Amino acid sequence: MYRTHNCGELNMKNVGEEVMLSGWVQKSRDLGGMTFVDLRDRYGITQLVFNMETNPALCQEARKLGREFVVKASGKVAERSNKNPQIPTGEIEILVGKLEVLNSSETPPFTIEENTDGGDDIRMKYRYLDLRRKAVRENLQLRHRTAIEITKYMSEEGFLEVETPVLIKSTPEGARDFVVPSRMNPGEFYALPQSPQTFKQLLMVAGFDKYFQIVKCFRDEDLRADRQPEFTQIDCEMSFVERDDVLAAFEGLAKHLFRSIKGVEIQEEFPKMDYSEAMSNYGNDKPDIRFDMKISEMSELVKGLGFQVFDSVEYIGGICAEGCAGYSRKQLDALTDFVKRPQIGMKGMVYVKYNEDGSLKSSVDKFYDEAALKEWAALFGAKPGDLILVLAGDLELTLKALSELRLEMGGRLGLRDPNVFKPLWVVDFPLLEWDEDTKRFHAMHHPFTSPYEEDMELFRTDPGKVRARAYDLVINGVEIGGGSIRIHDEGLQKQMFDNLGFTEEEARKQFGFLMSAFRYGAPPHGGIAFGFDRWVALFAGIESIRDVIAFPKNNSGRDMMIDTPSTISEEQLKELSLKLNLKH
Ligand code: AMO
Repeated sequence: MYRTHNCGELNMKNVGEEVMLSGWVQKSRDLGGMTFVDLRDRYGITQLVFNMETNPALCQEARKLGREFVVKASGKVAERSNKNPQIPTGEIEILVGKLEVLNSSETPPFTIEENTDGGDDIRMKYRYLDLRRKAVRENLQLRHRTAIEITKYMSEEGFLEVETPVLIKSTPEGARDFVVPSRMNPGEFYALPQSPQTFKQLLMVAGFDKYFQIVKCFRDEDLRADRQPEFTQIDCEMSFVERDDVLAAFEGLAKHLFRSIKGVEIQEEFPKMDYSEAMSNYGNDKPDIRFDMKISEMSELVKGLGFQVFDSVEYIGGICAEGCAGYSRKQLDALTDFVKRPQIGMKGMVYVKYNEDGSLKSSVDKFYDEAALKEWAALFGAKPGDLILVLAGDLELTLKALSELRLEMGGRLGLRDPNVFKPLWVVDFPLLEWDEDTKRFHAMHHPFTSPYEEDMELFRTDPGKVRARAYDLVINGVEIGGGSIRIHDEGLQKQMFDNLGFTEEEARKQFGFLMSAFRYGAPPHGGIAFGFDRWVALFAGIESIRDVIAFPKNNSGRDMMIDTPSTISEEQLKELSLKLNLKH
């Protein structure tokens, strides 16, 4: 027998009981005649006490315990004289009568404490030790609870969880595929699913009506805080639905999760914002609407007055930061440096201070007099005390930079409270997106997304203007999910592939199975997929999804702990009929 209780459950009610606990030594302290050991397990920490006077041999043994030793201790629960109100077991301690070392431990490479001294790399390498830390463990517990609530809600709503295969053919979600060579079919490869997109559509053709799955997806793309090469989706699909049916169904899921996981009741319907409005007002298709500070275009107002920088660019726009007119030279320089970072790529920043006394002072006083600056202020609805920040350049780049600057200012001004949640639906995305590299249009979501019928004419004249019946769920500036109403007609699907530059042969080879399924009575259908890791990170109030994944990859896609990707043996290569052709 190893334990009668866990390390998180004993309290004043247990005083006087004989108990047995097993766990890890968090730390030990020698205070002259007494030795205190904090014993830790998944459930909490309990203080063990060893007394030099009553049991010197045992106390000596306790003094030898190192951090992370695994021990079993038996003794009596006693009231503590020096109580710790921070932890549930803080009112008691165990007067240990018997101690057994179950396993020793080397000194861990970092402290297993709330605020660890371990850097990212070392914690990734020893992830099993990092997982002993409360914060990381709590994230995984949150993940578990969220998964349970999703399954519960979806099942109650009549959705059926169906597993789909992992060894498949390419799915076009816009990233590169991870591929797996087939031993039995030399020279042929499976692709790992970037999403179960085509399978869930086939399940609709099969009449399943309402499907969901919490499922691993794989994408070979550049990694960021909110992207992992393998991540988890809550993948969903429904038949006989229009866009608003889908939005209503999943708004229900979102509200249920907020209620059950965060205790937050969201009464009102989630607002819907057009993609075009999101882009012009927030410079971003995933606006953080916890705060206002909208972008305003200023091109008409400021061009043609002799300021070369503004006259020579495609777009000029700005934001107004309330109450920031008092920003110092140093603070403004820091913001200029921020927009000049290579990831943002601006050449500079213009500012206007609307001073408390009503006067206006700008970094372009030479070109714009006070009357002109007043007009700028009016455009933003600025008042004395506000600071206007202006960027100029190429339309797309500048909007993106303004979006970053807006988020930066929102952060500086404390307007991005992680305990405030502002969801919205971004709708009516363009169907197609121009790709400069390949000089052709790509599907912005994926090629199964249905266009608006009334926009079909534009395919011939202005393909970039065709709107998709697509939508994203955005919360606090994070794209939590995305989906669309699908094409369910073979003819339209063929036309779509044609518009995307697939030859008939290519389309047939890659997606023939789906198109032939459409010949056998495909119902109108649509769906969505949520980033499960992103949901959990949002609920945990953290930015990086790494912290909500038990065994994540680092930014180069490596698992530092098991040290992979790694080479395979000559024999394996031969078996797979593969020959390496490395350039370095
Ligand atoms: P999409 O590609 O928008 O849509 O993906 C859906 C959601 O999955 C999450 N996500 C990711 N999370 C972590 N790491 C990644 N690399 C990553 N990539 C995506 C995001 C995103 O909103 N089949 C369609 C859905 C549909 O049309 O129903 C799809 O996969 O939160």
